[in-house]
Amino acid sequence: MSTKGQLYVGIIIICTLIATIGCKKSNGDQPLYDITKTVVDDSAMVVTAHPEATRIGLEILKAGGNAVDASIAVQMALAVCYPVAGNIGGGGFMIYRDNMGNAYSLDYREKAPSAAFPDMYLDSLKNPIDKLSTKGHLAAGVPGTVDGMYRAFQRFSKLKDWKRLIQPAIDLAENGYKVTERQAGAYNRYQDDFKKYNTQDHAFTGEWEKGQLLIQKNLAETLKRIRDNGRDGFYTGKTAELLVAEMNRGNGMITLEDLQNYESKWRDPIKTTYRGHTVISMPPPSSGGIALSQLLSMVEPYNLRQMGFQSPESVHLIVEAERRVYADRAEYLGDPDFFSVPIDTLTSKYYTASRMADFNKEKASVSDSTEAGVIESEETTHYSILDPYGNAVSMTTTLNGGFGSTTIVGGGGFFLNNEMDDFSIKPGVPNMFGLVGAEANKVEAGKRMLSSMTPSIVEKDGSLYIVVGTPGGSTIITSVFQTIINIIDYDMSATEAVQAPRFHSQWLPDMIFHEDDALSEETRMALSEMGHELSQRGKIGKVEAILVSEGGKVVEGAADIRADDDAKGF
Ligand code: GLY
Repeated sequence: MSTKGQLYVGIIIICTLIATIGCKKSNGDQPLYDITKTVVDDSAMVVTAHPEATRIGLEILKAGGNAVDASIAVQMALAVCYPVAGNIGGGGFMIYRDNMGNAYSLDYREKAPSAAFPDMYLDSLKNPIDKLSTKGHLAAGVPGTVDGMYRAFQRFSKLKDWKRLIQPAIDLAENGYKVTERQAGAYNRYQDDFKKYNTQDHAFTGEWEKGQLLIQKNLAETLKRIRDNGRDGFYTGKTAELLVAEMNRGNGMITLEDLQNYESKWRDPIKTTYRGHTVISMPPPSSGGIALSQLLSMVEPYNLRQMGFQSPESVHLIVEAERRVYADRAEYLGDPDFFSVPIDTLTSKYYTASRMADFNKEKASVSDSTEAGVIESEETTHYSILDPYGNAVSMTTTLNGGFGSTTIVGGGGFFLNNEMDDFSIKPGVPNMFGLVGAEANKVEAGKRMLSSMTPSIVEKDGSLYIVVGTPGGSTIITSVFQTIINIIDYDMSATEAVQAPRFHSQWLPDMIFHEDDALSEETRMALSEMGHELSQRGKIGKVEAILVSEGGKVVEGAADIRADDDAKGF
């Protein structure tokens, strides 16, 4: 690595240590949780957004469960202890690679209700109605999480004990957990929305403080129905009735039939090669796998290491690749059950080379930025799990925005997603992530909305190498991309790669967003001279990564220092 790169890495390690120690302090008292940001172990690893979820995942592995068992328990735990994004009222994507090298992807993305139609969020003049696709009942798609978890359980569970996987989340909901400072802040910030979009009593009311116990009785009862009845505990019977009753309180569209008919799906993962590695990621209805594959292929002909870490040359190259990839995303990507996505073409090296044919090393090209959008809340959550048998899960799950629609199912205790905003509600009009879309991603009954979630697994010499993913809306793709090149091109450890500062660009708005410590002053000036516009913003992503090296003997887990994320292994 270059001297500049080494300097960065030194700073990163110091920041990591400070952040880790910081997480353990609680107003100078006892730490709330034992949070670890970096851990090296020899066998198993769980990296999640919350220490309670990490603990539960690890317990399942220690009880003999495999990575899929642990991922189901973690999904349910996050619905309790990380309600801003963890969920049973949302959806997500799983990449599973078993120890024989077989890779699978599970799509448990939400679907539009059967009554949905293309113009449902537009007024009579065909203009988007403010917040209709982002807040309240009409923003919710039919949840996919419980069906997805049950499907994964039926096919791959080693423990073969569904109840054992759900019980820890029930205990957590019944006995409560101590909210972290970040969580208390979020619960307080969202009080107005909670009031506005809910009429029933719920657990989140009030003024929250760090260390306060959050008990969720209604959620515990819902989880018990799921524990006792599997998918039917959510999609039929009391939970379904509570959800539909909630819909009726706020003009929502989800019906009992929509719930009964929901099905998650196994799909063929996207696979690409990058400098001799194989990268496995999520196919449509996520754009993540295709976009990641395109980005890697577009930069592969160039020597990133020689260009330097976050040098003007490397950032310019990456941003120009991102411009082309996000333009393709807007035009060609949508639910493959409704729109014929040209996957083979988009991911062919021939195509990506032709897209970069007009790349000018000295000068930024221009996106048509007339519809530039604003990037808002990016709450999703990712976790990475490796079991002692060598099976790995990379899982990204979400309600979309923070607490989704902010509507909680009355009596059910769980938040509903606002995933309908991930459709293109009007061609060319940006969604909450500033992403534009067209025909491929228009609202249609029963369709899945396009996602950016990019749970990924990388192989080296045919063996498991990296398990990686992150939340971050449209920035998910570029954060996963940067973590992979940090490891492969810049020789970083998992911890260095995850904690390294990040930047993001996405065609529209025509802008390079960067964290305050990303891109040196020199680099920023050089990029401006090339014609790029830059904008400093808050943290980008919360990456959870596992790196397996030395023939599988050394396993490094890295939890992002940007939040309460926790890595533990054994
Ligand atoms: N809701 C964010 C995504 O799926 O990309």
